[in-house]
Amino acid sequence: MTKKLEGKVAIVTGANSGIGLATAKLFLQEGAKVVLTGRRQEALNEAAKELSGDFATFRADASSIQDSNALVAFTQEKFGNIDILFLNAGVAPFMPISDITEEHYNEIFDINVKGPVFTIKAAFPYLNDGAVIVSNTSVVNQKGFPGTAIYSASKAALRSVTRVLANELSEKKIRTVSVAPGPIETPIYGKLGLPQEQVQAMGESFAQQVPLGRFGTAEELAQAVLFLASPDASFINGVELEVDGGLSQV
Ligand SMILES: NC(=O)c1ccc[n+]([C@@H]2O[C@H](COP(=O)([O-])OP(=O)(O)OC[C@H]3O[C@@H](n4cnc5c(N)ncnc54)[C@H](OP(=O)(O)O)[C@@H]3O)[C@@H](O)[C@H]2O)c1
Repeated sequence: MTKKLEGKVAIVTGANSGIGLATAKLFLQEGAKVVLTGRRQEALNEAAKELSGDFATFRADASSIQDSNALVAFTQEKFGNIDILFLNAGVAPFMPISDITEEHYNEIFDINVKGPVFTIKAAFPYLNDGAVIVSNTSVVNQKGFPGTAIYSASKAALRSVTRVLANELSEKKIRTVSVAPGPIETPIYGKLGLPQEQVQAMGESFAQQVPLGRFGTAEELAQAVLFLASPDASFINGVELEVDGGLSQV
């Protein structure tokens, strides 16, 4: 059977874990050459043990413009021009508005918005005609979950960038789309900065609100990203695709 991404060059940011790692695996299975990024080299080395195919890891902090430039230069030199950018790296520390600090705000916006924006800027000259940019947003940008004001705002900003670039980058026939996960079982829930019991209660509450009654898996997300990045989605542009068991619709 023909592979869906045969010969394509892809970057997946935040790929040492969760959705990024599952997507990088699937891209490799489908014949892509993949550069996986993360901010911790040892975590990338661990992830690399699970992978086979034509891939490379590159340590890059998504909030650093310098790292984003270096990532693009590395990819271009290693594999040539780029066909798929999956801007996935992100953080989701939840915090009530009464507790937020400038540091909290800057961390979230630097990683979730500045990172993707400047990675796109760095990559643009090296994106092949017909390339695809997939940004990982979140259904939180369409909802009002308490404690997510800054996180939701960052994902709404990223969703807006997707929409604008679908028009702005049309000269090179580049498609820009977002994937908006609902609750997905990944290590991110251990990184929210909340006590374990609170994370568990929040998880149960999220699952109850999902019409399918459960969390999704990183592999289910990866399948959606593959679809969006592949020629199967050749006339899909500018949209945000919710992969959330129906959560955003109720
Ligand atoms: N899981 C969900 O329920 C859910 C729902 C909606 C949206 N999302 C979005 O999905 C994306 C992936 O999250 P996930 O659930 O797969 O969580 P995850 O397993 O924590 O993956 C996030 C990845 O991004 C990396 N990352 C974070 N900050 C970075 C930085 N400054 N530079 C480089 N890499 C960085 C993480 O590295 P470290 O291991 O070093 O932290 C990790 O590899 C995020 O953008 C998240 O907002 C997730």
